[in-house]
Amino acid sequence: MCSRRREWSLSLEILLLPHLFLAISIQGHSKYAIPGDNVTLHISNLPKNHKSLTWFYTTDQKIVEWEFDEPMYFNTKFKNRATLHPQSGALFIRNIQKEDSSTYLLRVLKDNGDEKEWKISLMVLDPVQKPVITVKKLWEMNNCKLMLSCVIQDQSVNYTWYWESGSFPKQLQGSVLQVVHTPENYSKSYTCQVSNPVSSQNSTINFTSPCVQASSSEVARTATWLVIIVTTLLNLLWI
Ligand SMILES: *[C@@H]1O[C@H](CO)[C@@H](O)[C@H](O)[C@H]1NC(C)=O
Ligand SMILES: *[C@@H]1O[C@H](CO)[C@@H](O)[C@H](O)[C@H]1NC(C)=O
Ligand SMILES: *[C@@H]1O[C@H](CO)[C@@H](O)[C@H](O)[C@H]1NC(C)=O
Ligand SMILES: *[C@@H]1O[C@H](CO)[C@@H](O)[C@H](O)[C@H]1NC(C)=O
Ligand SMILES: *[C@@H]1O[C@H](CO)[C@@H](O)[C@H](O)[C@H]1NC(C)=O
Repeated sequence: MCSRRREWSLSLEILLLPHLFLAISIQGHSKYAIPGDNVTLHISNLPKNHKSLTWFYTTDQKIVEWEFDEPMYFNTKFKNRATLHPQSGALFIRNIQKEDSSTYLLRVLKDNGDEKEWKISLMVLDPVQKPVITVKKLWEMNNCKLMLSCVIQDQSVNYTWYWESGSFPKQLQGSVLQVVHTPENYSKSYTCQVSNPVSSQNSTINFTSPCVQASSSEVARTATWLVIIVTTLLNLLWI
């Protein structure tokens, strides 16, 4: 009894195996975009003799299917934004949004019955914002110990610090940089560059002496305005 059931399951496996081998799945490339972009998902080596094409948003949600004639668009959030080019298999999506990030799947049926699958992962990310560098200073003997923090709101980024003589070694890169300025030896500027796969931004601070920062041009402008306003007020009071 028991052995017969085993025979059954064995023959079932043998029946199923060829199909497993025919459905070849290939991990395609990764793609990045920013919200609002138009994106084209395509693979470079689409089989020429394809009988049908299906694009999936996730493994169980079809976007569009083509067998002959017109592509059929399913009732998804892509319905009015996606266009399939049946010859190349390319899927064009207008006005992409962060929620559209996913691993898309293209399933192709060849005329010999073989099925092939490509996966393309799409990540839709906001461009990074301009970072702000904050400085903590600690005088110690004649030296100035500095803790420079590169601050950015709620975004996953990579940090690269530069000083006068180039970039810092990779193992020192992070949101916080610690340096010691001596009277003889200090860098007059530091730049923090933040980047993600779709963009990068940077900020620079300058030093006029080991422990004194140059006021940024914006601060300087505000100060000038304050002087003008105060002078005007004083003039008015005197009248
Ligand atoms: C996206 O494509 C549409 C036409 O389909 C065009 O009007 C629009 O300007 C494009 N947007 C971008 C960001 O390229
Ligand atoms: C000072 O000079 C030494 C040796 O040239 C160097 O390793 C160090 O990073 C310098 N420090 C600063 C803050 O410039
Ligand atoms: C940071 O850099 C690493 C290595 O270059 C990369 O794999 C990762 O995607 C980057 N992360 C961001 C948020 O850019
Ligand atoms: C900083 O940004 C400016 C443009 O905003 C760019 O020209 C410069 O190359 C950037 N510098 C670094 C070190 O990333
Ligand atoms: C730092 O100095 C550079 C030139 O040396 C200047 O272009 C930049 O505006 C300065 N930045 C600040 C924040 O003072």
